[in-house]
Amino acid sequence: MGILEKITERACRDIKTIVLPEGEETRTIQAAVILQKQGIARPVLLGNPDKIREMAGSSATDTEGLEMIDPENSGKAEKYAALLYELRKNKGVTPEKAAALVKDAMYYGIMMVKTGDADGLVSGAVHTTGDMLRPALQIIRTKPGTKVVSSCLLMDFPDTRIGEDGLLVFSDCVVIPCPTAEELAHIAVSAAETARQLCGIKEPRVALLSFSTKGSAEHPLVSKVREAAQMAHQLAPDLLLDGELQLDAALVPEIGRAKAGDSPSAGRANVLVFPDLQAGNIGYKIAQRLAGAQAYAVLQGLDRPCNDLSRGCSVQDIVATAAITAVQAQAQKTGR
Ligand code: ACO
Repeated sequence: MGILEKITERACRDIKTIVLPEGEETRTIQAAVILQKQGIARPVLLGNPDKIREMAGSSATDTEGLEMIDPENSGKAEKYAALLYELRKNKGVTPEKAAALVKDAMYYGIMMVKTGDADGLVSGAVHTTGDMLRPALQIIRTKPGTKVVSSCLLMDFPDTRIGEDGLLVFSDCVVIPCPTAEELAHIAVSAAETARQLCGIKEPRVALLSFSTKGSAEHPLVSKVREAAQMAHQLAPDLLLDGELQLDAALVPEIGRAKAGDSPSAGRANVLVFPDLQAGNIGYKIAQRLAGAQAYAVLQGLDRPCNDLSRGCSVQDIVATAAITAVQAQAQKTGR
């Protein structure tokens, strides 16, 4: 069973409410119908109900029984605006500005998650990553104990000899363009937590990647990764983690033994931490395009789960991301 099937099965066991701010968009409506019918999540579509039904009608989708909320005419708008004003008044948000912002579906959805009216949020079929991330960062903010929001890519390879029965966790491939050593350390610890909570990997083994293995090259970029590994070790002393490691030393047992003999993760890493966003983004796309891996993006470090889609996403991608978000919400609630 692939990682997505496992996650979907878990989502169905304890149904969570997932808000979809892009409720007037056809793929999103179709995904909501699947989520509801298959019991993967309780979707809430944001938008004008007449517009949602019109869009659904154009693709012969039956919206019977789907929950829809119009942020322009919602009884909760006042409460959300008051809270948004409290949270952002120090950043120049006035009561008037807050009232206007909550009429925007993205802000309304983020406020639903912030207040617990929804367990998680999925968007990105229409909006960019930044459109969702910025309000999420400003309002939902980071989990206690985590300094940064970053991302993981769950990489599901057809070859089950790779990683953990075909699964590797790559981080960060979406959010922080140029992390400091401290940010990299937090990314590493968050990625191990995602591996454990979301992927069911009992023993995350983390490699902080570089073009050097344990001092084989010297450069400020290498020193940064080495420093990040030390900081991550201080943040999570029990975590099996090492760096700096080259990719082959991280993954290939003989090379790991030869280059980093006493390492807790070299040669058998299942969580790969890339030194910056360029490396991470290129790395996951190489694995996807050349090794046929399926890639599922997940945001980590937010106090409540929100996830982003690619604008080219399919209906199935939206369903998958909602299932992932629901399982993150379950894990959060139980503290697992
Ligand atoms: N973690 C925690 N808090 C953060 C982070 C972070 N990673 N980044 C910014 N913040 C906080 C800031 O401190 C600020 O807080 P404040 O307003 O209370 O002071 C708030 O979030 C907003 O910060 P901004 O400076 O306004 O936002 P910024 O312009 O830095 O944008 C963003 C943040 C959107 C995440 C930016 O880093 C970005 O665009 N990253 C790349 C995203 C991207 O395009 N990725 C590729 C996606 S495509 C794909 O891979 C599928």
